[in-house]
Amino acid sequence: MNNQADRIIIFDTTLRDGEQCPGATLNIEEKLVIAKQLSRLGVDVIEAGFAFASPGDFAAVSKIAETVGLPEGPIICSLARAKQDDIKTAAAAIKPAAKGRIHTFIATSDIHLQYKLKKTRPEVVSIARDMVAYARSFTNDVEFSPEDAGRSDPEFLYEVLTEVIAAGATTVNIPDTVGYTTPGEFGNLIRGIKENVPNINQAIISVHGHNDLGLAVANFLEAVKNGARQLECTINGIGERAGNAALEELVMGLHVRRQYFNPFFGRPADSEAPLTNIDTRQIYKTSRLVSNLTGMLVQPNKAIVGANAFAHESGIHQDGVLKNKLTYEIMDAQLIGLTDNQIVLGKHSGRNAFRSRLKELGFELSENDLNRAFIRFKDVADKKKEISDWDLEAIVNDEIKQVPDLFKVELVQVSCGSNAKPTATVTLRTPDGQELTDAAIGTGPVDAVYKAINRVVNVPNDLIEFSVQSVTAGIDALGEVTIRLRYESRVFSGHAANTDIIVASAQAYVNALNRLYAAINQKTTQEVTA
Ligand code: KIV
Ligand code: ZN
Repeated sequence: MNNQADRIIIFDTTLRDGEQCPGATLNIEEKLVIAKQLSRLGVDVIEAGFAFASPGDFAAVSKIAETVGLPEGPIICSLARAKQDDIKTAAAAIKPAAKGRIHTFIATSDIHLQYKLKKTRPEVVSIARDMVAYARSFTNDVEFSPEDAGRSDPEFLYEVLTEVIAAGATTVNIPDTVGYTTPGEFGNLIRGIKENVPNINQAIISVHGHNDLGLAVANFLEAVKNGARQLECTINGIGERAGNAALEELVMGLHVRRQYFNPFFGRPADSEAPLTNIDTRQIYKTSRLVSNLTGMLVQPNKAIVGANAFAHESGIHQDGVLKNKLTYEIMDAQLIGLTDNQIVLGKHSGRNAFRSRLKELGFELSENDLNRAFIRFKDVADKKKEISDWDLEAIVNDEIKQVPDLFKVELVQVSCGSNAKPTATVTLRTPDGQELTDAAIGTGPVDAVYKAINRVVNVPNDLIEFSVQSVTAGIDALGEVTIRLRYESRVFSGHAANTDIIVASAQAYVNALNRLYAAINQKTTQEVTA
């Protein structure tokens, strides 16, 4: 990758900034599954975590570096504050990767300098310069971010950027940390950097932005027109507060409107050469994987990956689309892999057919995971005649979810109806192997099941979100239940798929309780503040 990129570099931060949103916490195995899928998607850089934040973060970055950071794979990056210990830890974590990057940052806005860092501008310049040079002693690939650049004095920003590039930064990332800027302002900021930082040609300009005003993607596209060549984004736009710029929106915006963007890359407007390296047919699958594992649901009207993004409800639209898709569709659902939902297997399908279809779908499971997934598949196939690719994905995502199996649902039995008091009996296997049964009455069958589970587990919590979605159409469809619960100030999510939505509800709840239970029993991680 040279410093004058003639295409867009996609830097995915789902596993770092994305994972920072409440309840999206992933364990190491889940992060690895996502990292592998990001690699199949074709992202150029994976920001795998913030290695210094905790031993768990370090282990995840290191494992991803070892497994996904192959010579032909993506660059693996760790975030680090502009502090020696952070940088040294990041360097150790990315070491196993064929291509590793350290991403170091310090704030540059007066608000952050005065209230958070309590440092002067010259002090910040000197820390930034020294820490970039220190990071360069570990790797040739160093990215620097002036945090809160969107609210920083541009003249001070030019000074900091000039210094860090001279010290060896190969990418300078401009974050709109609080999602404050508008597209025109952000584009001008990038143009100003191009025009006023004398050594800017020695670094790639990157952008990072949050969606507090819903403008992150628009800001980025304006930045691209003004010279930004790396975009930092997350799948489904997950991230701090209102989230980050959504990868799928940026990639499809650049793809569908490439005739508009081509000239900004010095290409003829009608050039068909892609502007990113992303395999767009992997987008939908990646979106579902991230949503399932993080418990962050995708709103139905979400651009590109929402359930309604390709649906035409109004009669006028349907009529037009039937006559010619171009009337109301600007992109084909196939482009994002949405229509590759073939009916592939049934209850007579054997292990080999199951294994080879999973392989075609990009799942490489260990023998153990494959066995578990096959048992689940047979169980579902007994109830549901035809198993589609999406069903397979739901089954496998459920089985590979590596939530510690502390409590396990052994039995769920409900009685409910129009003139009945909804009653549930639940048996859970406890962490020490006992089977405990309890029963409860609720306002409905799910409420009764949850009350019965609470009587067994006995960890006070508030259920803050409960949602059921069907994987495919049809009365025998798999139901996916996603829940979020709050314990003190922390949010935990749970997810499960089953043809019986009451059973799925019980499993999703126990899944979230297992995360909660594991978290409260874990040693407290290092406190890290920026
Ligand atoms: O939003 C932000 O400023 C960040 C930086 C660490 C790049 O996430
Ligand atoms: Zn951020």
